[in-house]
Amino acid sequence: MKIASDVAGLRAALKRYRAEGKSVGLVPTMGAFHAGHLALMRTSAQEMDRTVTSLFVNPIQFGPAEDLARYPRCPESDARQAAEAGVDLLFTPGAAEMYPPGFRSRVEVAGLSDRLCGIYRPGHFSGVATVVLKLLNLVQPDRAYFGWKDAQQLLIIKRLVRDLNLPVEIVGMATVREKDGLALSSRNRYLEPAERRAAPRLYQVLREIADRLAGHPETAIEPVLAGARRRLEKSALIRLQYLEAVDPETLDPAGEESREVLVALAAWIGSTRLIDNIMVSRHG
Ligand code: PAJ
Repeated sequence: MKIASDVAGLRAALKRYRAEGKSVGLVPTMGAFHAGHLALMRTSAQEMDRTVTSLFVNPIQFGPAEDLARYPRCPESDARQAAEAGVDLLFTPGAAEMYPPGFRSRVEVAGLSDRLCGIYRPGHFSGVATVVLKLLNLVQPDRAYFGWKDAQQLLIIKRLVRDLNLPVEIVGMATVREKDGLALSSRNRYLEPAERRAAPRLYQVLREIADRLAGHPETAIEPVLAGARRRLEKSALIRLQYLEAVDPETLDPAGEESREVLVALAAWIGSTRLIDNIMVSRHG
């Protein structure tokens, strides 16, 4: 595996791949790899001739009070794991490489970025869309791989790609979970033992909602969500930020007529903010 820490090194490697007629897959990440990241890399390595992974803790997607400074960084073990997963090129730019002095531009996927997490993280999805657009332009991959774990992010990137006619196929990959259901996240390592024991409750409640709603278009959604919110709030360690059912295209609140519903939540457990979601097919 090659490592390029600047745009010139990235472009030199990509030029060779293109000259050889190789297809290219891109897996954007912020590092601290776990099995969810590695699943994206392995899939790209299987489907594409060459796989590029970017590792960049993107400062412009963190709010001023968020965890940018303490975001986990483990470059050596990340490089080893990426190589084992079949990555050909690891792109590890510094902030000055991505945002040199004078950088001014931002992309905004209006409407989708101010719902759900966007309400509590103003500017976050604009920061994500901006860095992903830069990465797609830099690498010009045939496919780019993202996890459903970050469903709103995935839907925003799909919209961006359609709206701006980017010639790339966006692939969404299933959420990789611990045995007890907790979605893998780089932030899980912040959880204290008691918090870690409480955390699987988030996915349990999502499953309970899905069991009530899937295949039952006649069941009203809001009372099911209200009951689930109450059950989650019973846990002393969990502070629910939101639990909503939305249309997966528009992120508007799901109506009784919605066939597919994205049920998404965010919650604080101690000083760690976790998100999770489940997709429900109401007509079975
Ligand atoms: P990061 O949180 O490092 O995640 C990188 C990719 O891994 C994202 O597509 C995310 O959805 C996926 N992922 C995370 N946990 C997963 C899990 N448990 N199962 C499957 N996939 C999972 O998301 C970002 O970085 C950044 O916002 C980024 C897109 C790189 C832009 O900076």
